[in-house]
Amino acid sequence: MKLKLFSILSVAVCGFLSATATPIESEGSDELEPRFAPKSYIFDPLPKLRGYKPKTRYYDFELKIKKLSPDGYERPVWTVNGQYPGPLIQANKGDRLVIKVKNNFGDPATIHWHGIFQRGTNWYDGVPGQTQCPIPNRITFTYNYTLDQSGTYWYHSHFLAQYVDGLVGPLIVHDKDDPYKNSYQEDYVVLVSDWYHSPSAPLLVQRTAPHYEGFNPYPDASLISGLGQYNCSSPGAGKKCNRNVPIPTYKVRKGKKYRFRIINTSAYALFTFSIDNHPLKVIEVDGIFTKETNASTVNYLPIHTAQRYSVILNANQPVANYFIRANLVPDCLAPRIPMTPFNTTINYNSSIIFNATGVLHYHGAGTGKPKSTGYTIPSPFACEDLNADAIRPYEDSPAPTNVTDTILLNVTFGRNDDDVGHFLMNGESFEPIFNSPTNQRIMLKENFRDFEPTQNAYGYDTPYGCVELILINGGGANHPFHLHGHAFWLVSQGPGVNPANFTYNLKNPVIRDTTTVPGRGHIVVRYLADNPGVWAFHCHIEWHVELGMVAQLIERPTEFSNETLPDDVRALCMQYNSYKKEKRSTFTLPQDAMVKRVQMYKKL
Ligand code: C2O
Ligand code: CU
Repeated sequence: MKLKLFSILSVAVCGFLSATATPIESEGSDELEPRFAPKSYIFDPLPKLRGYKPKTRYYDFELKIKKLSPDGYERPVWTVNGQYPGPLIQANKGDRLVIKVKNNFGDPATIHWHGIFQRGTNWYDGVPGQTQCPIPNRITFTYNYTLDQSGTYWYHSHFLAQYVDGLVGPLIVHDKDDPYKNSYQEDYVVLVSDWYHSPSAPLLVQRTAPHYEGFNPYPDASLISGLGQYNCSSPGAGKKCNRNVPIPTYKVRKGKKYRFRIINTSAYALFTFSIDNHPLKVIEVDGIFTKETNASTVNYLPIHTAQRYSVILNANQPVANYFIRANLVPDCLAPRIPMTPFNTTINYNSSIIFNATGVLHYHGAGTGKPKSTGYTIPSPFACEDLNADAIRPYEDSPAPTNVTDTILLNVTFGRNDDDVGHFLMNGESFEPIFNSPTNQRIMLKENFRDFEPTQNAYGYDTPYGCVELILINGGGANHPFHLHGHAFWLVSQGPGVNPANFTYNLKNPVIRDTTTVPGRGHIVVRYLADNPGVWAFHCHIEWHVELGMVAQLIERPTEFSNETLPDDVRALCMQYNSYKKEKRSTFTLPQDAMVKRVQMYKKL
């Protein structure tokens, strides 16, 4: 049954690929003259909010597909309000956000607010099959939650690999007690990302096809704040390719200081970020203010998928233009070369330009191309997080020592009976059940211990207990792991898979929400059980998510099961189920949804 499904699909997919493989010359000039980016909020300093009195901020999101060409190559992009990157969300700590999401994608969607704790509102965390049902096409669903934290966050779709198709945007929370408030005058947001010319659905179908032995789909471009440069004459270019994509340009005035908030919204890639001639002082990691130390000023930042850093840039250099560099590090991707002549990695022959460049433009400098040279970045590159000494928490915060619950997770790779490759956590590959979200099952008093093994559910019930997650990565690849609903103390990280040999730092560990587990290595994180609900813990490489590298943490089910689910969240599941009926589709398994997405894409 399953095999049959895939063989039908592979025909569709091959047709799609050959259509794009024809090299087509297109018009346009070859000049790469820096010019100012088009009118988009992302290249402007963040508008200042008035005062800190807590208020409710309303946003209207319309999800719609629009043809855009971020790197020159035109493709359908899954946008919010027609924009890529999506609209800026800005608020103060203590504010409430009410975000009305009208889905006009043609396929279901959800939005996750990455790094937001959702204390008391687990059902607005945006994870289909875990915290809510997917929002069907033409249905409006409103997210409504209070911010009890500050820092640099982002939002993205959590429905299959839809965020890779464009549904991403920044979510910035200001803090009246920001210890660095007087150390910078303006605030900028920079998004770095890999980018694909093919929508994710066909890529995912190939990635999860029986007998496929390649690696993750290879990206086609690297982008800075939604703009990249693609060589339109390269093989693989489609009919429409614009060679005049503007250069991403951030403007500064000499003598001022700027906070840059850098967010990696990639599907897959680790980037290094730097600005020529301008060392960067790190002040925030994933929403946590960090201490100024000898190590906190860096020439370049490694930043993995879903991580964020704030840095302060001192515009104290001669008035000129300087390159902003976002280098997608190929050393941190799986091998690109074909495994066997018959089973190559999807899109391995991509003509990607790994090093995206933008311009830091000093007021009065003119529009000439920068002549600056980049800082030296080690090669080969160790695919690790920024040095812990650069990002110690601003306030002393030793890790809790009274561990009440320990969860050991072993990540491995395996192939199922259909010869489909999967990632396993303790021997099981996660499979979401879209129309039966885990948190609603908990509220119906189901015991997580009786869940299907493919739910990868782990629970703990001690109020304010200290949970320790030990993650052991037996494979050679690195994985940026993210925990929903919490920031964690990163008490151990490094090579080695034998817990007896792990070294712990309980005194001043890094606190963040996304961290990289090295190949044949481990991480150990601790956090307080202060947020009842169902929280995902997963690798943020989207291709790995879809191969099952996901666990669910059931936090304090006894209490959580007594909470009241808002009516609109329950109604959404009814709408989703009747939508399925109407479409005469089962749509329960992710595979069904993938088939739908491929069919839909072919009509675009
Ligand atoms: Cu950005 Cu489940 O995460
Ligand atoms: Cu991974």
